[in-house]
Amino acid sequence: MLAQAEQSYKEALSQLEGAESTAVLEAWYRDTLGRKGNIYLLTRQVGQVDPAERPAFGKRINEIKTALESAYEERLATLRTAELEAELAGSAIDVTLPGRRSWHGRLHPATQTLRQIYRIWGDMGFQIYRSRDVETDHYNFELLNIPQHHPARDMWDTFHTVTPGVILRTHTSPGQIHAMHDYCPEPIRVILPGMCYRYEQITARSEIQFHQVEGLAVGRNITFTDLKGTLTAFARRMFGADRAVRFRANYFPFTEPSAEMDVECILCNGSGCQVCKYSGWLEILGCGMVHPNVLRNGGYDPAVYSGFAFGMGPERIAMLKYGIDDIRYFWGNDLRFLAQF
Ligand code: PHE
Repeated sequence: MLAQAEQSYKEALSQLEGAESTAVLEAWYRDTLGRKGNIYLLTRQVGQVDPAERPAFGKRINEIKTALESAYEERLATLRTAELEAELAGSAIDVTLPGRRSWHGRLHPATQTLRQIYRIWGDMGFQIYRSRDVETDHYNFELLNIPQHHPARDMWDTFHTVTPGVILRTHTSPGQIHAMHDYCPEPIRVILPGMCYRYEQITARSEIQFHQVEGLAVGRNITFTDLKGTLTAFARRMFGADRAVRFRANYFPFTEPSAEMDVECILCNGSGCQVCKYSGWLEILGCGMVHPNVLRNGGYDPAVYSGFAFGMGPERIAMLKYGIDDIRYFWGNDLRFLAQF
């Protein structure tokens, strides 16, 4: 019995040393010291041993059991460390891999253009004046010299609300009247940025909502020369110092005389391309001298005061600047578009 125990002990020890993984080691434990393991079973057979040899056998089998337990613990610790090291080595950080790019938020191209416009006008002493998006027909049209049944209303297709006479502004020009009411009789130098709304078919060239930046200067002795000089200075800063500009006569009910300003095409430098429709010029803004009726509606005496006004579309300017061929990209929220700016 004792000889058998020694034999099992020797075998168990050599198997233990041969166990190369924790899985094999667990199996070894089951077969040796577990409930059905051979060494464990030997400890249960002490009673069958010759009474004379029983104490010696009992002592020895306990020694064997304890020795195997601690050999097992030691082997387990070694194997665990080895396995952990192997795992770490397999998934170690490769410092030569290129870094992952972290994504930053950025300003919308319309906002970037707006801020550029604010900066230029701010440098020229113009303050920002904000007025509401929801307007009355009175401010959006009547006070701007556009009477109820005047055909000039066709220039602005309007979103009406369910409240009669309350509409979404079709341009930022009603802000001119609000500013005049606020400032009168002081001189005015403001820009009026904001969203405008038009009841139009959405196409590559027209959206139902878009920004405008209106400008208004009112004072004594303001002339068309001031308008031309100020807007030319703006264009130089916005589009480059040697970009040519030109003024073309136009019509707006709230300015007289009225004009539109063109800049030399920023894509072809005036030689003619698809964007400028081979004219070499891009239309940038509408402008004119504030109509006497509008001055009067704002509280200013047109015999004493004069002024100029202008209105431009920042999305349109951004489109021309970056060669964007579809205005729908602006509110489409497609990151492939936005991330380019
Ligand atoms: N409000 C005009 C438009 O929407 C632009 C404009 C503003 C023209 C001020 C002249 C003066 O087309």
